[in-house]
Amino acid sequence: MIKKKIIVANWKMNPKTPREAAALWDAVRRTARNLPRVDVAVCPPAVFLGLFSSPGRGNVFIGAQDVFWEQGGAYTGQIAAAQMAACGARFTIVGHSERRALGETDEQVSLKTRAALKAGLTPIVCVGEMTRDSAGAFFGVLTAQLQASLDLIPRTAASSLVIAYEPLWAIGRNFREAMDSQTIHETIIFIRKVFADKFGQEAAKRVRIIYGGAVEPKNIAAIMSDGRADGVLVGHKSLVVSDFTNMLKSANAV
Ligand code: PGA
Repeated sequence: MIKKKIIVANWKMNPKTPREAAALWDAVRRTARNLPRVDVAVCPPAVFLGLFSSPGRGNVFIGAQDVFWEQGGAYTGQIAAAQMAACGARFTIVGHSERRALGETDEQVSLKTRAALKAGLTPIVCVGEMTRDSAGAFFGVLTAQLQASLDLIPRTAASSLVIAYEPLWAIGRNFREAMDSQTIHETIIFIRKVFADKFGQEAAKRVRIIYGGAVEPKNIAAIMSDGRADGVLVGHKSLVVSDFTNMLKSANAV
């Protein structure tokens, strides 16, 4: 089974202005549309979502960085999944570690993931351990996070998810501090096993499991080939046009 690779750009709280955001989007789109072997999901701050021309045409999509679990009503500051979809989003990140650090729980991630699916968005559900211990306690952390974060997801929807494995200790670092490809491969196998226990073998085969944390031009190819990741989630390097477009070309060539 051929699964299309997906490259997610998480812009976080960048760039500063709509003009910069539009320029970045245009550059990414121009490169990505000539790279048919990858899907690209660009996740800007929600305020910029409506700015981009022809999102969702071909293989280049817009994603949200978060959604709220309610569909509407008196929730000051929140944005519903359907509102993101109405502004062009096709994907949404859910449960990023930076949101979990602000207090988001597995239960909330599960509610948000379900809301995203209901609105027709593809959720990119983030999990990852804070530290790696030699006794392997992080396996328990990952299992608990996966089970609780996907608790409300029906079996029929499971294979359409994207799971982003992001070890917290690698996020925001440089490529020398990213996880090595062999360990990424092992961890992806482990996540697929936990997924299979919950949703069955078939869904586990189909689900895309991607890696995030210090993905850069220097390591993207190894992460996707030796690491067997179905894609990557890119933070700081998604803001540097030349680096990110080179990364897309590398990913397309894997
Ligand atoms: P990074 O961020 O690529 O800057 O490590 C990844 C992420 O936080 O999703």
